Amino acid sequence: MTSTPSFIIIAIDGGAASGKSSTSKILAERFNLLHVDTGSFYRHITHELLRRGVLPTNLAALTLALTELNFTTQLQGRSAQLMIGGQPADHEIRGQNVNEHVSHYAAIPAVRQKLLGYQRGQVAVAQQHGFRGLVMEGRDIGSVIFPAADYRFFLHADPIERAKRRAREGQLDSIAERDRLDSSRIASPLVSPTGAIAIDSTFLTLEQVVGKMAALIEKS
Ligand code: DC
Repeated sequence: MTSTPSFIIIAIDGGAASGKSSTSKILAERFNLLHVDTGSFYRHITHELLRRGVLPTNLAALTLALTELNFTTQLQGRSAQLMIGGQPADHEIRGQNVNEHVSHYAAIPAVRQKLLGYQRGQVAVAQQHGFRGLVMEGRDIGSVIFPAADYRFFLHADPIERAKRRAREGQLDSIAERDRLDSSRIASPLVSPTGAIAIDSTFLTLEQVVGKMAALIEKS
C-alpha cells in the first residue's frame, strides 16, 4: 500500500534580492508546490493605496481604505496572484515608485493584519488545486505566518552582490534602505527566525542554493 505524502509548508525569508523568488519557483516546480510571493502582495496593496492617494501617515484614511479592499486569488501557473477588487497586479508593482514606498506601508500593523489571514488561507488554495504543499517567501513567514512550517529557510547575501542582481534585472531598487526599514520596524520585522536554516548565497549559484534546500526536503 502506498501512503499519500503529507502536505508540506516551506517558508523562505530574507532581505531584498536575496534570491527568494528564484529558489521558491524552482522548489515549487520540483516538489509540486503552490508558489506564494508575499512581497508581491505588499507591493500590490502599496500600488493600490498610492493610486487612491492614501498616505501611510494618514492612519484613519488608510484603515478605511483597507476595509474596502477585497482580496481573492488567481493562479498564474504555480503562483498565487493576489487580486484586489478582482484586478491582478500590473508591472508597476516592480517599479521605482512602489520600491520606494512599500516598506513604509508594510510597517503598518493594520496592513500586515489585513494580509495575515489571506496568507494563511493559501494552504486551502493549494489543497483545492491539488498541490502537494506550498512554498511561501517573504520577511515574516517562518517567524509569524507559519512558525511551525515543515522547513524554514533564511537567505542572505552580501549587499553588493544583491545590488548587482537587481541591476542585472534592469531594476532600480534601494535594497539597503528597504532592508533597514524592514528590519527595524516594530511589526513583524525581517529576522532570521530561531531554528531556521540560514543559507548565505553570496558565493553560491542558484542551483547550489536550491540543491541544499532540496536535499533536506528529499531526505524527509
Ligand atoms: O520581497 P519583495 O522585495 O518584493 O518585498 C517588497 C516589500 O514588501 C519588502 O521591502 C517588505 C515587504 N514585505 C514584508 O514586509 N513582509 C513580507 N512577508 C514580504 C514583503
